[in-house]
Amino acid sequence: MSLASAYTVLAPFYDRVVSGATRPLRQASLAHLPAAPADVLLVGVGTGLDLPHLPAAHRYTGVDFNAAMLARSRPRASGLDFVAVRGDAMKLPFADACFDCAVLHLIVAVVPDGRAVLQEAARVLRPGGQALLLDKFLRRGRPAPLRRLLSPLAARVATRLDVVLEDALDGLPFGVVSDDAAAFGGWFRQVRLLRT
Ligand SMILES: C[S@@+](CC[C@H](N)C(=O)[O-])C[C@H]1O[C@@H](n2cnc3c(N)ncnc32)[C@H](O)[C@@H]1O
Repeated sequence: MSLASAYTVLAPFYDRVVSGATRPLRQASLAHLPAAPADVLLVGVGTGLDLPHLPAAHRYTGVDFNAAMLARSRPRASGLDFVAVRGDAMKLPFADACFDCAVLHLIVAVVPDGRAVLQEAARVLRPGGQALLLDKFLRRGRPAPLRRLLSPLAARVATRLDVVLEDALDGLPFGVVSDDAAAFGGWFRQVRLLRT
C-alpha cells in the first residue's frame, strides 16, 4: 500500500485519533502566525484540524495529495479565506516567494523526504517569512533503537519515526527562531524557522 492509499483508509478515523491530543500543540504553534494580513500556506493540511484555530485576517491555501483528507478540510474553513489545492508537499504547485508563512504540522516527518518539503517551503516563502513546524523529530545522535526499527513500517502507513530535523535543514536558507519540546518527552517539537 502506498502512503497516499494509507491516508485514504485513515481519513475517516484521523480526527478521532489525533484531534484531542494535538489541539493545545496546534494552538501554541499557530499563536506565532503574523499579526498583519498575510498569505499562509498549510502544507499537508489533511482534514483541516488547524483551521478552527486560524484568525480570519489572513488568506489561506491548504495543500494535500490525498483527496479524502482534503475533502474533510473544506467544511472546517467556514469564515476563512481558504483554498484547498491537491498537490505534493515535496514539489509544491506554487510560484517562488508567494507566501509569508508556511504551517508544517505533521508533514515533514510524514513524507519520504522531509528535506524536500523544507526546501519547497523555503522556495515558496518570501524572505523574512516563517515556517511553523510541529512534528516528531529525533535529536542528532540519539539511539532510539525501537523508533529506528519501526520507522520503515510506520513510514508506509502513516509517518516516519526517525527524522532528524537538523539533518533535513542542513544548508537550507532557514534560521531557527525557537525549538521547544511539545509532547512525549520532547519527541514532538514545536519549531519556528525564519526564511533568511
Ligand atoms: C499526519 S497527517 C497531518 C495532517 C494535518 N497537517 C494535521 O496537522 O492534522 C499528514 C497529511 O499529509 C498528507 N501527505 C502525506 N504525504 C504528502 C505529500 N507528499 N504531499 C502532500 N500531502 C501529503 C496526508 O495526506 C495527510 O493528510
